[in-house]
Amino acid sequence: MLRNYLLILLTMIGASAVIGCAPESTQTATADSKPATTETAAETVPEPVAQATPTPPRSPDVPYVPTPDVVVERMLKLAGVKKGDIHYDLGSGDGRIVITAVSKFGALRGTGVEINPELVTQAQENAKKAGVGDRAKFVNQDLFQSDFSDATVVTLYLLPRINLKLRPQLLRQLKPGTRIVSHDFDMDDWKPDKVEVVQGPQREHTLYLWVVPKKVPPELLKEVPGIDN
Ligand SMILES: C[S@@+](CC[C@H](N)C(=O)[O-])C[C@H]1O[C@@H](n2cnc3c(N)ncnc32)[C@H](O)[C@@H]1O
Repeated sequence: MLRNYLLILLTMIGASAVIGCAPESTQTATADSKPATTETAAETVPEPVAQATPTPPRSPDVPYVPTPDVVVERMLKLAGVKKGDIHYDLGSGDGRIVITAVSKFGALRGTGVEINPELVTQAQENAKKAGVGDRAKFVNQDLFQSDFSDATVVTLYLLPRINLKLRPQLLRQLKPGTRIVSHDFDMDDWKPDKVEVVQGPQREHTLYLWVVPKKVPPELLKEVPGIDN
């Protein structure tokens, strides 16, 4: 069990070194990247540095590791996705979970929130190809800045620390009865309502289901100490 957990963490951390996780600040124009000019120093009016340096885009909190299709189906089944549901995948990658929720499980609408713009474009193309471009939407946004309060189902494949950082936001925004399913990682002292182990193509995957309660214990609404909030 512990060995499997460490293996998953290592896979996610290893992926961050390889896939799409380099800080995007290298694409940002800085004072140093201004084109060379033939003007003399006396003729040049120096620009304030603050204006010449736009805020760098935030790098992802979690690397892109797609959920295998067989596990996607089991996550949505565990969440009990049905006609009329409003689904969000926070950190939506290539859009596979949102697209499946809408196309196979009959969700009314699905939204993927994704920080990597290239993955947003890929997800939008995949949704069009699957014929659900009108009901599956993808937004290029930091999930910590997003409003998902109309959700009836939320799916996550993040990391333990990120789940914990997100926990107060989930519990403040979501209505009682909303189902949350997380792939591989739990929420520490917020105990799940159900846990399932699913055999994937290469390993076992653990899925956790929580149903947002009517009365949220106040300690779960607090930011978790030691997490960079
Ligand atoms: C492990 S992948 C899961 C992708 C997809 N949910 C799936 O299960 O196939 C995590 C995704 O979260 C995205 N991500 C990381 N930090 C994010 C943030 N702060 N806001 C939005 N997306 C983020 C990554 O770019 C990546 O696509």
